[in-house]
Amino acid sequence: MTTQLSLNGRMFTVKSDPDTPLLWVIRDELGMTGTKFSCGAGLCGACTVHLDGAAVRSCQTPLSAVGGRKVTTIEGLSPNGEHPVQKAWVALEVAQCGYCQSGQIMSAAALLAKHPHPTDADIDEAMNGNLCRCGTYNRIRAAIHRAAGKA
Ligand code: FES
Ligand code: FES
Repeated sequence: MTTQLSLNGRMFTVKSDPDTPLLWVIRDELGMTGTKFSCGAGLCGACTVHLDGAAVRSCQTPLSAVGGRKVTTIEGLSPNGEHPVQKAWVALEVAQCGYCQSGQIMSAAALLAKHPHPTDADIDEAMNGNLCRCGTYNRIRAAIHRAAGKA
């Protein structure tokens, strides 16, 4: 059985079982490794992608649940790495080890698409499920404000 998957603006025909978490379809079958595996249990946010623009945990999203919705990964966020969130991340040197950061960026981009000028409380709520073992939370918050044009 095959499934049609809309990913980063292209249609793919994938062979993974419909029960396969989207994370493994993206990484293993399609070879896009920007989306990270960490807890595998919906607890850390490292695997965050967009489904029709909303942030979801790809480790908890079976392929069968995607349907005709558009999936976007860090590779598809912008054609040249110039999404405002990516530019703010670079300007403020947010990343430390970097492992959590594609998930952080995807959550931040989804937040700003919904709330172009988020408050600290909005940021805390939206980013709450994205863990960073390097403790980059203050820089993440500052970079989100910068991307929103406030810093
Ligand atoms: S790997 Fe998906 S939430 Fe942690
Ligand atoms: S930058 Fe290392 S886990 Fe977040």
